Amino acid sequence: MIGFIGAGSIGGAVITGLIKNGFDEDKIVVKGGRSNRTKLLCDQLGFQMVKKVKQLADADVIFIAVGATALDNVLSELKEIVAGKLVVAFTGSASVTHLKQVLGSDAKVAHAIPNTPVKVGAGFTGITYSSDFTDDDKKKVASIMGYTGQLVEVPEDQLGILGTVAGCSPAFLDVFIEALSDAGVKHGLNRQLSYEAAIGMAIGAAKLAKQSELNVSALKDEVTSPGGSTIRGVAALEEYGFRNAVIKAVDAAENE
Ligand SMILES: NC(=O)c1ccc[n+]([C@@H]2O[C@H](COP(=O)([O-])OP(=O)(O)OC[C@H]3O[C@@H](n4cnc5c(N)ncnc54)[C@H](OP(=O)(O)O)[C@@H]3O)[C@@H](O)[C@H]2O)c1
Repeated sequence: MIGFIGAGSIGGAVITGLIKNGFDEDKIVVKGGRSNRTKLLCDQLGFQMVKKVKQLADADVIFIAVGATALDNVLSELKEIVAGKLVVAFTGSASVTHLKQVLGSDAKVAHAIPNTPVKVGAGFTGITYSSDFTDDDKKKVASIMGYTGQLVEVPEDQLGILGTVAGCSPAFLDVFIEALSDAGVKHGLNRQLSYEAAIGMAIGAAKLAKQSELNVSALKDEVTSPGGSTIRGVAALEEYGFRNAVIKAVDAAENE
C-alpha cells in the first residue's frame, strides 16, 4: 500500500501517471486537502480516499505533495505513524535535513522533484535519499516511481537545478511549440496541423536524441547541409539569441 498527502498539480500528476500506467489503484490511499480536487480525481481514477493522515498507517511508502505552507502541519501529524515507513516529499522546501528534523530519526526520508510529464509516464524525477535509505528501500521507491518515468538519484545540492532543467522547461518547450506553430500558421498551415507538426517533431526529436549514439550537436550537424535552409534557420536562432534566452530562462527560474 502507498499513501499520498496532497493531490494537487504534482500529487495528482504522479497519482494519474501511476494508475494510467498500470499501478493498482486499490493500493493507493490519498489524504487530500480542503477543496474537492481529490474527490474529483478519485471519481476518475478509483483510488481510496481518507480524511486523516493517521489513516495512512497501512502505507509503507508515503508521498507528500502539499505546498510549503502546509508542510510542517502535515509532518507533525505524520510523525505519529511514521516509524518503519519511507517518506518521499515533493514539496520544494522539504529538504532531507528538515524532514529528518521534524519527523525524527525513525523516519527514512527522501526529497524528490518530479515534472508534469509523470502524468503520462514520461516524467523525469530527481531524488535525494537520507543516508539511512538502504538499496532495497531505494529499489522500492524506484519500482513505484518507475510507473511515471525516469527516477535519478542526485546529491541534494543539485536537486533544485535538476528540478528547473526538467521541471520548469516543459513550460519553456510549450512556448517553443506555440511559437513554432504560430510560424507555421504565418506561412499558411492551418492551426491544428501546425500544432500537430510541432508537437510530433518535439516528441520525435527528443526520442532520437535519447536513442541515438550521437550527441545533439552532431544530430544538428547531420541535418544542416551547406548553404541549406536548416543552417539558415539555425543561424537566425543564433542571431536572435535563442541559446542565451534559454540560459537566461533557467537563470531567472533559479533566482527567486
Ligand atoms: N507543480 C509542479 O510541477 C511541481 C513539481 C515538483 C514539485 N512541486 C512542489 O510540490 C508542492 C506542491 O505543488 P503543487 O503545484 O502540486 O501545488 P497545489 O496544486 O497547490 O497542490 C497542493 C495540494 O495540497 C493539498 N493540501 C494542502 N494542505 C493539505 C493537507 N493538510 N492535507 C492534505 N492535502 C493538503 C491541497 O489541497 P486543497 O487544494 O484541496 O486544499 C492541494 O491540492 C510545492 O512545494 C511545489 O514546489 C511542484
